[in-house]
Amino acid sequence: MPSYLADQVNVESIEQHKYDIIIVGAGGAGLRAAIAASEGEQQTVAVVTKSLLGKAHTVMAEGGVAASLANVDSDDSWDTHFYDTMKSGHFINDYRVAEVFAKEVPDRVLELETWGAVFDRTPAGKIMQRPFGAHSFRRLAHIGDRTGKELIRTLQYKAIHQAVDVYQEVTSTALLVDGQGQIAGVFGYYREDGRFVLFRAKAVVLATGGWGKAYKVTSNSWESTGDGAAMAFRVGAELMDMEMVQFHPTGMVWPPGVRGLLVTEGVRGEGGLLYNSQHERFMLRYDPVLQELSSRDVVARSIYKENQAGRGTPHGGAWLDISYKPAEYVKAKLPGMYEQFRTLADVDITREPFEVAPTTHYTMGGLRVQADTCATNVPGLFAAGEVACGLHGANRLGGNSLGDILVFGRRAGMGAREYAAQAEWKQIDPATLEREAARVLAPLTREEGEQPYRLQVELQETMTTYAGMVRSQESLQTGLARLQELEERAARMAVKGGTRAYNPGWHTVFDVQSMLLLGMVIIRGALARQESRGAHWRLDFPEELPEVGAVNFVQRLSGDQIVIEPTPVPKMPAELARLFEHDRAPGVRRRAERNGEGRADR
Ligand code: FUM
Repeated sequence: MPSYLADQVNVESIEQHKYDIIIVGAGGAGLRAAIAASEGEQQTVAVVTKSLLGKAHTVMAEGGVAASLANVDSDDSWDTHFYDTMKSGHFINDYRVAEVFAKEVPDRVLELETWGAVFDRTPAGKIMQRPFGAHSFRRLAHIGDRTGKELIRTLQYKAIHQAVDVYQEVTSTALLVDGQGQIAGVFGYYREDGRFVLFRAKAVVLATGGWGKAYKVTSNSWESTGDGAAMAFRVGAELMDMEMVQFHPTGMVWPPGVRGLLVTEGVRGEGGLLYNSQHERFMLRYDPVLQELSSRDVVARSIYKENQAGRGTPHGGAWLDISYKPAEYVKAKLPGMYEQFRTLADVDITREPFEVAPTTHYTMGGLRVQADTCATNVPGLFAAGEVACGLHGANRLGGNSLGDILVFGRRAGMGAREYAAQAEWKQIDPATLEREAARVLAPLTREEGEQPYRLQVELQETMTTYAGMVRSQESLQTGLARLQELEERAARMAVKGGTRAYNPGWHTVFDVQSMLLLGMVIIRGALARQESRGAHWRLDFPEELPEVGAVNFVQRLSGDQIVIEPTPVPKMPAELARLFEHDRAPGVRRRAERNGEGRADR
């Protein structure tokens, strides 16, 4: 082995840190977890991120955070938000997760304001709220179309003032467990020079986001490669409903270099209308009540169907038009969109319609966690945000992700704090470290082999073509077979350049490994779910089937085999179930009326 590789395999020489709690990921969930974990009696807390502080996929939740503050529609309440969340999730959500969420999210938003978040205001000076798809009320507290960015800014200032250490540009490659399978730490390397680093910890919170980068057209930034979910799966954590991948109806389509970039649902929330090539408002046909503000799965499928029927736009999408609104209004409410289209596409959205098409946006499946503590089945391991599963079911409501990271980021931090307070330090077997170090270095030691970039492109193409928005038994089986071939090739990945310093090819190796594993789990889940439900659309099983909808698909590793187990969806207690009898949730019966009115005045 060349000397530049060999020195770091000596475990004695690995840089080590010891914290009670390590949080992997510095998006909204990670930062909110860090704030909660570092409160109360002193426990040491650090955030480890492969990116930079302030740079996270959270910024891509642009249009707002959903919370029943009732500032604009006074009838709104937590139970209507709960109702909307369960209904849009097609009832495979964990009801307890949704209940905790809907009850707590208003407090989490108000708390943000006390920490310095500057929300848009109503004339009466309250936090402004806008409509979003399939929410019964105007519910999204927002800061123009930069809500996620403001959340991150606020949380990062709060976290760093609360004695949280931050390790930036560190790729985590493995979770370390002791002989009993309990969390003992995290292993990784500094991206700038490849130096190894070991974080010993009593508890670990994963807040590593989703895996939208497994698809070719995506709103996700480079970080969203599913590292956390893959690391957790390898040490025995359970993944649930991984077949549920959200395709946001409106991504940019043109020019090709920006394809997939998010066009916020806030455009439709502020009145944007969708047209096909025949200038027909096709959403009136697909959902006459909610129209453009139907749920994301419905709008995305409608755009697809219009294209299949030959009524798409030149680049395979639909026209979105908000130019009938006063230009000053559009610029004030959607400053980011105005700039994005002006600078990237040379389009002035205050004057003309623009093309949009579905883009991979969010992974609703993820690590199975307990609602109250966010604990996974691996002792000492907690998860929050997009990496976790339970809240969104088969289709996430826009704006529920920012609420999710606030509510469950906090709960994961508290869960980890309580666990760490009574936990002992666990032993890490040096042989485990040696094996991991050798595994991580292996692609650098090969003279010849597969290029990680090539495999990444093929993986993204495979997932998009065979396990994308439209699926069938045949497409999924073809996709699985291709992933199996890619897996064999991935075992021979080789990285040119001969150095661990600034070597992006080497970083890509781990992205490919994570996304390949998760891609297999997505496809296995999609094959098992022989029905259509929410975002999961099977051409060969076009209807929802009650017996299939009664289960969550839970997957785990047994040896090196992935096993899948249909597990009954938790049953709602009577007082919650009652909300769904005759649409009893307060305000729900007025929803159709209100949405109809809202659209009619355009
Ligand atoms: O469209 C959007 O602004 C995205 C929001 C979300 O995904 O929650």
